[in-house]
Amino acid sequence: MKETTIILLGYMASGKSAVSKLLGKEIALPVIDLDDYIEESEKKSISEIFAEKGEIYFRKKEHEYLQEILQKNKPCVVSLGGGTPCYANNMELIEQYTTQTFYLQTSIAEIIKRVKDEKEKRPLIKDIETKDLPEFIGKHLFERANFYQKSTYSIITDGKTIREIVVEIQKKLN
Ligand code: S3P
Repeated sequence: MKETTIILLGYMASGKSAVSKLLGKEIALPVIDLDDYIEESEKKSISEIFAEKGEIYFRKKEHEYLQEILQKNKPCVVSLGGGTPCYANNMELIEQYTTQTFYLQTSIAEIIKRVKDEKEKRPLIKDIETKDLPEFIGKHLFERANFYQKSTYSIITDGKTIREIVVEIQKKLN
């Protein structure tokens, strides 16, 4: 494998963080979770940033910190936030640094199953009633899919363990 930056992206609850942690361990590369990086740098939780400064501020910072990470050119696994690929030409920015981009593709039904009992920590869906989640997530994912599909690889995650997903990614790394 050529030493490079590996990017994992996908909708909320697609398993980006868990997959990146195990992948990093398996291929001995450091893991950077962009949401964690933003929280540590801003000294606030993502929910606090959304509540106190708003989404536009969050997207601006998200772009700046992504750029900061990429510019270091340090081989690592980066797990993006669910919206990162869809704002500020972030996919074009990423393409300047790496082609090792993986879309963790998860079905609407599976996403709903995973997020419905933990909406609170997700500012974009915390105020959506559980009964309205299928419509909201369906539309949201439809809008975002074009951005996610700019990834070099798509990995279907439904019905797979974290380890199976990691093995699939490892087979594609070059
Ligand atoms: C967001 C997803 C979150 C986080 C923020 C916005 C989104 O990350 O960056 O709440 O726009 O989908 P996760 O995908 O890690 O939950």
